[in-house]
Amino acid sequence: MAHLRAVYPGTFDPPTWGHIDLVHRGIQIVDELVVAVLDNPAKRTLFPVDERVEMFRECLSDLPTVSVARFDGLLVDFAMAMGCQAILRGLRAVSDFEYEFQMALMNRRLEPRIDTLFLMPSEEHVFVSSRTAREVAMFGGDLSSLVPETVRKRLEGHFQGRVSNRPPSPSDLL
Ligand code: PNS
Repeated sequence: MAHLRAVYPGTFDPPTWGHIDLVHRGIQIVDELVVAVLDNPAKRTLFPVDERVEMFRECLSDLPTVSVARFDGLLVDFAMAMGCQAILRGLRAVSDFEYEFQMALMNRRLEPRIDTLFLMPSEEHVFVSSRTAREVAMFGGDLSSLVPETVRKRLEGHFQGRVSNRPPSPSDLL
């Protein structure tokens, strides 16, 4: 059977247990997985792209068939350049579906040789998102079931001293 390489793209601001779970599921199916961290200066993020890449690498260093890279521009161009035949995305709930469906069909229109595979995370991660992790961190909540240790430390470091000094503002989450 042909060697199957897939790309797992996202903003990953920051990577969560849900993302890590998806990577583990992905490598049961494909031979190689390239985690592609979006580098889009127009999109405000809490962590710069280099740090998002670094966090993912720290979490996945024990998986020889996984690599982590940053990308900009069109995802399908990156996928083709990396020799990937498929895009992997996670689906948590019906609310994810419309956006994911649109993106999958747009990517297929742009590059018909690449298809999108969807996998569901483990039930315990269905409500975990980067945004909820940022929000829990901002209010000093327990992050252990949301993000790996290395991410937890960075999130806590980011919000340290900000929790009680002043009322939080929505821009703290970005
Ligand atoms: O984690 P996210 O924010 O849901 O990931 C979105 C991502 C990075 C997969 C998507 O924004 C993307 O692929 N951006 C690159 C630009 C692109 O290719 N757009 C066309 C597809 S609609």
